[in-house]
Amino acid sequence: MKIVFLVFSGTGNTERICKAMQSVVVRRGFTTEYHAITRKTMQEDLVISSDDSIVIGYPIHAFNAPRPVIERIKRLSASSAQIWFVKTSGEFLKLNSASSVKPARLLRRKGYVVQGEFHYLMPYHIMTRHSDSVASLMLRTALARIEDDTTDILSGRRHAIEPSLGGRIVSGPLKIEQLAFPFIGHAFHATSRCIGCGLCAQVCPTENIVMAQGHPTFGFRCVGCMACSVRCPVNAVDLGIFDGWKIYGAYDFDAAPAKPDKLPRYCNRSYRRYFYDSAKVHGGQTSASNQ
Ligand SMILES: Cc1cc2nc3c(=O)[nH]c(=O)nc-3n(C[C@H](O)[C@H](O)[C@H](O)COP(=O)(O)O)c2cc1C
Repeated sequence: MKIVFLVFSGTGNTERICKAMQSVVVRRGFTTEYHAITRKTMQEDLVISSDDSIVIGYPIHAFNAPRPVIERIKRLSASSAQIWFVKTSGEFLKLNSASSVKPARLLRRKGYVVQGEFHYLMPYHIMTRHSDSVASLMLRTALARIEDDTTDILSGRRHAIEPSLGGRIVSGPLKIEQLAFPFIGHAFHATSRCIGCGLCAQVCPTENIVMAQGHPTFGFRCVGCMACSVRCPVNAVDLGIFDGWKIYGAYDFDAAPAKPDKLPRYCNRSYRRYFYDSAKVHGGQTSASNQ
């Protein structure tokens, strides 16, 4: 039996969580494989046997799984292996609950046994910037949860996907995001700060960016993951109509973790509930349990 991680990640949050989970799996003596979902790896044949388990990791984009995740699932060959979803998102709202419905449906049609999902709160890289201390609290909380969640995966314990009615209602129309981003992303461009290093092209999971005479050009394959804008070393990516929402610069996850009374006003109640429940059930950040 092996645990296969199949992961889409734009700005690195989901990768960080899935790699941490992979380390726990290895520490407990199991064999693992890690496959990033990118345009390059989209056609790779995975050898999955029925006693393997697959962890599909993805960030929630507009209350849904990003398009490359759906495309990768469509290309998986049939199997009766067990599947878990590991999703990260900037909000811990019930509205995010329907994101695994479509991936789960596609996988069940291929014979997979969908065992459920795990959801981790991680900082946004668009729209709202958290402080480093809140980002640090999010990561530490996730790491505490991962220990228990890995136990459940390894023992085959179900974690049902429970889409709320609101989540279903919202996620349907917002699939428009997946149709819009190829055009929105085509309007991204490099400003005069660009030094032509080509890092944006290297990190783009959909190979949407091509360097032409030392200058990035943006095609029509953008899925809005923000890898290019977050990882540009000189903040040279202009996000077109989304530029006002740009968040530039990596978070310092090593910062001292926030105290719950220093949480942002944004989504404050759902964040508190997440940190409080995590501390109660999984240990870790005891400060959150004072709430
Ligand atoms: C285009 C876009 C849409 C997003 N939509 C949502 C959303 O609907 N709900 C949410 O909670 N977070 C949303 N987020 C936040 C991401 O899910 C979150 O930052 C995630 O951890 C990013 O993972 P990654 O670094 O692996 O790409 C969105 C982020 C982006 C870039």
